[in-house]
Amino acid sequence: MFFRKKEIDTELNVPVHIGIIMDGNGRWAKKRGLPRKMGHREGAKTFRAITRSCKKLGVKYVTYYAFSTENWARPKEEVDGIMDLFDKYLDEVNDFKDENIRIRFIGDRSKLKPSLQNKMLNVEETSRKYSSMDCVLAINYGGRDEICHAVKNIAEMVEFGAIKPKDINEKIITENLYTQDIPPVDLIIRPSGEQRLSNFLIWQAAYSEYYFTNILWPDFKERDLKNAILAYSDRNRRFGGVVEKK
Ligand code: FPP
Repeated sequence: MFFRKKEIDTELNVPVHIGIIMDGNGRWAKKRGLPRKMGHREGAKTFRAITRSCKKLGVKYVTYYAFSTENWARPKEEVDGIMDLFDKYLDEVNDFKDENIRIRFIGDRSKLKPSLQNKMLNVEETSRKYSSMDCVLAINYGGRDEICHAVKNIAEMVEFGAIKPKDINEKIITENLYTQDIPPVDLIIRPSGEQRLSNFLIWQAAYSEYYFTNILWPDFKERDLKNAILAYSDRNRRFGGVVEKK
């Protein structure tokens, strides 16, 4: 799909929160006869560029599916390569300070290398004050795992008498997710031709719109992001009700 010659402007309905499944790195590398890790390396460059584009276009939160709870099943060399990229980029994300972008993480950190966990804490702490946009990295993240984690927290609250089972509602569950204060995701973009959610933000995506494209993540450019936003902006979100399009 080509970018229609209508620029993103204030009349467009820009999503507050975009979720991105960075898919197709392996295929990008294979097409070029390169090792998969080269695809991830290019994918990381796209992550940096698209984060800046999101900010430029007025998005307030962008969440990337960087490493899932299922990705540990990949060959050790590939997993180590992805972890090294996180390490490297966590040093570089300090660059985002010039753009006032806050970095946050969701997922189960306890399985990550302690040095990486420390770096994540430091980055979060230093960038807490940046307020133009939140860039959220889902690392060792799984939607079902996140819900299990929330259920355990809530069960403990019941055990300690802080709440009664009858008090459990959607608000309490939302507050116990890794995303806590992050708004629900409006638009999920998945490149590379796959059309599934793969355990990404399953609670938060209850009313999301989806945008699928065959472009592989390392080839994804700002014009593709604009196309996704244009497609989203044209849709009529009803949230289960009957909202007429203006
Ligand atoms: C999916 O593509 C991609 C991943 C599992 C890893 C994503 C990681 C990065 C882009 C690198 C680091 C990111 C940051 C934020 C620094 P795939 O390997 O499943 O592709 P394929 O389906 O073509 O094999």
